[in-house]
Amino acid sequence: MGKRLDGRVAVITGGGSGIGLASARRMASEGARVVIGDVDVAAGKAVAEEVGGEFVQADVTSEGEVEALFQAAVDRFGSLDVAFNNAGISPPEDDSILDTGLDAWRKVQEVNLTSVYLCCKYAIPHMRRQGRGSIINTASFVAVMGAATSQISYTASKGGVLSMSRELGVQFAREGIRVNALCPGPVNTPLLQELFAKDPERAQRRLVHVPMGRFAEPEEIAAAVAFLASDDASFITASQFLVDGGISGAYVTPL
Ligand SMILES: NC(=O)c1ccc[n+]([C@@H]2O[C@H](COP(=O)([O-])OP(=O)(O)OC[C@H]3O[C@@H](n4cnc5c(N)ncnc54)[C@H](O)[C@@H]3O)[C@@H](O)[C@H]2O)c1
Repeated sequence: MGKRLDGRVAVITGGGSGIGLASARRMASEGARVVIGDVDVAAGKAVAEEVGGEFVQADVTSEGEVEALFQAAVDRFGSLDVAFNNAGISPPEDDSILDTGLDAWRKVQEVNLTSVYLCCKYAIPHMRRQGRGSIINTASFVAVMGAATSQISYTASKGGVLSMSRELGVQFAREGIRVNALCPGPVNTPLLQELFAKDPERAQRRLVHVPMGRFAEPEEIAAAVAFLASDDASFITASQFLVDGGISGAYVTPL
């Protein structure tokens, strides 16, 4: 049996770090040719080199740069089979609605939601031409549950990603294009580790809600991305694909 993603071309935004980086490694190991789009040139180039792919400097809030990113993948490798629209931010200025200013609100909406609109807008025409494609948009478990530790624009942006993905999944279902919203639970990233090492109570406040009692590793999210990208997920579209250790299903968690 060949590798699941042999011959497939995958664009990953935010592929320079975290979930995007783990997904670049995973999809490349399954045979995909990977194109990394990121604003971080050093990190993006290093990942592209590691996985034998291409790097394209792209700010996902720029219409021209997003269009050029997907065109570059087609020009370089001949097709666009997977769009993992994953770049996103969660800055500290985005907090309770009472404290979050309009600039912080707008910045997060641009990077997390407008970016996904742009990426889908410029990926879908290539996929329609081919009659095939898998789009995976990174939302979050906070798109389906409320938190008293609010990041109001982030949560609203991820809700937008979720409903936009559902609508696109339905609209293009008969053209061979699948669109799913990936909803990761909290992931064990260096940033999170540092934050919680300084403030164990903050970590505990969150961990108590996770049935598995731990955060996800980036590789566990990447495994779901590779699945959604592949034909193993051929009947999965317009879904909210939760990879959350059971958080969204829990009331009382194990001691
Ligand atoms: N880490 C978590 O706990 C978690 C949980 C749920 C959802 N998510 C979502 O997963 C996605 C990836 O998160 P992560 O934790 O891997 O983040 P990360 O910060 O490790 O990586 C994000 C990458 O996106 C890039 N990026 C940021 N702004 C960009 C822009 N304007 N244009 C292009 N690239 C840009 C960064 O340079 C970086 O390489 C985000 O959408 C995030 O909201 C993360």
